[in-house]
Amino acid sequence: MAHEIEEYVVETSVFVESVPKEKNIVSQSDINEVGSYASKVAGIKEVLCRDHMKVAFFGRTSNGKSTVINAMLGDKILPSGIGHTTNCFLQVEGEDGNEPFLLCEDSTERQNISGISHLAHALCNNRLGDSTLVRIHWPKSRCQLLRDDVVLVDSPGIDVSESLDEWIDKHCLDADVFVLVANSESTLMNTEKNFFHKVSERLSKPNIFILQNRWDMAASEPEYLNEVRKQHLDRTVDFLVNELKVVERSQAEKRIFFVSAKETLMVRLNEAKGISNNSGFPEGFSSRYFEFQDFERKFEECISKTAVVTKFDQHTRRGKGIGGDLQKLVGAIQERAWSQREKKICDRHSLYQQLDHTEKELNAVTIQMKEKICSIVEDVERRVSNALNEEIRRLYVLVDEFNEPFHPDLLVLNVYKKTLHAHVEAGLGSNLRARLSSALALNIESSQQEMTKRMLALLKDEKRDLAGTLLPRREPFEVLYRLNCENLCADFQEDIDFKFSLGVVSMVQRFLGSASSRFVKNNHKEHISRGIPMTPMTPSNEPPLGVSQDDWSIISKFAVAAVGSQGTMGIALALGLMFKTVGWRIIGLTGAVYGSLYLYERLTWTNKAKERTFKKQYVDHATRKLRLIVDLTSHNCSHQVQQELSGTFARLCRLVDESTTEMHKEMRSLEKEVQLLEDTGAQAKKLRNKANYLINELNIFQQTYLSLNE
Ligand code: GTP
Ligand code: MG
Repeated sequence: MAHEIEEYVVETSVFVESVPKEKNIVSQSDINEVGSYASKVAGIKEVLCRDHMKVAFFGRTSNGKSTVINAMLGDKILPSGIGHTTNCFLQVEGEDGNEPFLLCEDSTERQNISGISHLAHALCNNRLGDSTLVRIHWPKSRCQLLRDDVVLVDSPGIDVSESLDEWIDKHCLDADVFVLVANSESTLMNTEKNFFHKVSERLSKPNIFILQNRWDMAASEPEYLNEVRKQHLDRTVDFLVNELKVVERSQAEKRIFFVSAKETLMVRLNEAKGISNNSGFPEGFSSRYFEFQDFERKFEECISKTAVVTKFDQHTRRGKGIGGDLQKLVGAIQERAWSQREKKICDRHSLYQQLDHTEKELNAVTIQMKEKICSIVEDVERRVSNALNEEIRRLYVLVDEFNEPFHPDLLVLNVYKKTLHAHVEAGLGSNLRARLSSALALNIESSQQEMTKRMLALLKDEKRDLAGTLLPRREPFEVLYRLNCENLCADFQEDIDFKFSLGVVSMVQRFLGSASSRFVKNNHKEHISRGIPMTPMTPSNEPPLGVSQDDWSIISKFAVAAVGSQGTMGIALALGLMFKTVGWRIIGLTGAVYGSLYLYERLTWTNKAKERTFKKQYVDHATRKLRLIVDLTSHNCSHQVQQELSGTFARLCRLVDESTTEMHKEMRSLEKEVQLLEDTGAQAKKLRNKANYLINELNIFQQTYLSLNE
């Protein structure tokens, strides 16, 4: 049984040491407690496994402890004498052989018995320390008492040594019977009482006998004999019953004996030598001797079966106590492990929910934000395209505002063109910015703020603060309108030579221009006859409405031929035709008007007019070119916006991703902890059940075998 308890204690101690300390499930005091039980159980086991009874003798120095043992053994084995004699613990045990010998502590070397006085006598130089143990192996054949496997332990006087606690732990805790050898010449002293108090603190109900030794000396003062005896009896009974509470009052007197060890030893030595003991002893000798024999009888009785039962009973109780204490201890450990596990499971659950929520929300936000970015991008594209178209329409204002001095000289004109490109580019840029920037920036910023707000809401509080500092503070976003006018209008070629508006070349050009444009417009329509606009060249020669396509081509061919060749033939033909149709006067008038118009136009064809024409041509050209890049520019701008918004969103996504990765990590560690706590709890539960089983077993053992004691 003790073996099982020992196993259990070892198992528990391994368990408590295996639980990680930082979890606050097992405290250091728990570990210490289990450790102390381990040594206690080892002690009990030793007692239970031992087949002999151990009797320890205590008392103040010179009270006669060694003499009492010698008397009981019937031989002068232990050194005795006046003053402080015994210097260490001397254990007398039975030996099957015929030769007595000594064994010192920690040695197997047999020494001659004669060395005892050297080793154990306080007056010898090579004496041992007061808590060492010397074993005296005395032949059982020479002593009746030792045949019953009794071990007698003599101790140094308890009042001369200071290492009392050390003694008790080392030599007394496993004693089955304690014999206090008191001096009846004085009285029970506090040192003796204290010693037994300490013993009974550690052992419940030790078996104690009290010998009032040197009672022969009391015989020299017979007048107070009875009073002294009563005084001693009262005090020692009071000590056993009221102070130590080890026996009932009715039993206490049976444990106290008034003896003379010295006389008893002498009687036994004489008997051994064959000398009769009838004379030479002080008065009352026989009663003292009788009382000594009575003590021996009771003593033997005590260490017989009843004592054995008492011993087992006591240790069974202690075993039960230890089992109960350990059961409580592992029970508390189990409770703590369970409650911590519950908490961790709650934590795990809320973390799981948080993680799930974050992931779902992240998906939702991602979808929404993608849509939002798309719509913003489209919106930007539309706005930029509208604004640019509007600006192109108002391009003439911009060109008009250009005030650099104009000169038709080629070199100056080139510089003029260059600065005009730059002016238009800058003007367009700033106008577009003025039209769009604030609206776009507001829109972009608000959507950035929205996504930041929604994404940061997915982070934990402490992370959120950190994220605020992590997100790079950026300059407010601005769309760049890349309108490279210089490249765009590089092919612009002005035409500022003087051309008379009613001149033949310009007339034909104009005529060809508008006609061909009409023709181009209607070219793919069916070939229906169309009215030809007025021909300014010959107002009188109005072609009839509804000229057919063939007629038209003939006329144009004719005109081209007339203008292109400028041959005399053509002019003569034309003049002849005119004379014939209208007459001289009208021709003269027309010629005068024509000439004055020419003069007027020639005179007004100044630098200013050239500049105007130049600007007009430039506006037309730039308008055409800019129209071509409207889509490209608006797409480019919307792309910038998309980049900006996607960039911000990607950064936020990375933050949330980091946070979810961390949560996953935390989740795994929580799972590990829950598992550990579960294992700890389960093991504690197993140990608790085992303690229960052991206590039950001890109960059954007590009821079955130790009922004698009840
Ligand atoms: P320490 O070993 O020093 O602790 O002493 P102890 O208690 O062993 O005493 P020990 O047996 O050495 O006895 C001390 C002295 O008292 C010896 O001289 C003994 O002869 C003497 N003595 C012992 N018992 C009695 C007794 O009953 N009557 C008388 N008169 N003297 C005794
Ligand atoms: Mg002694």
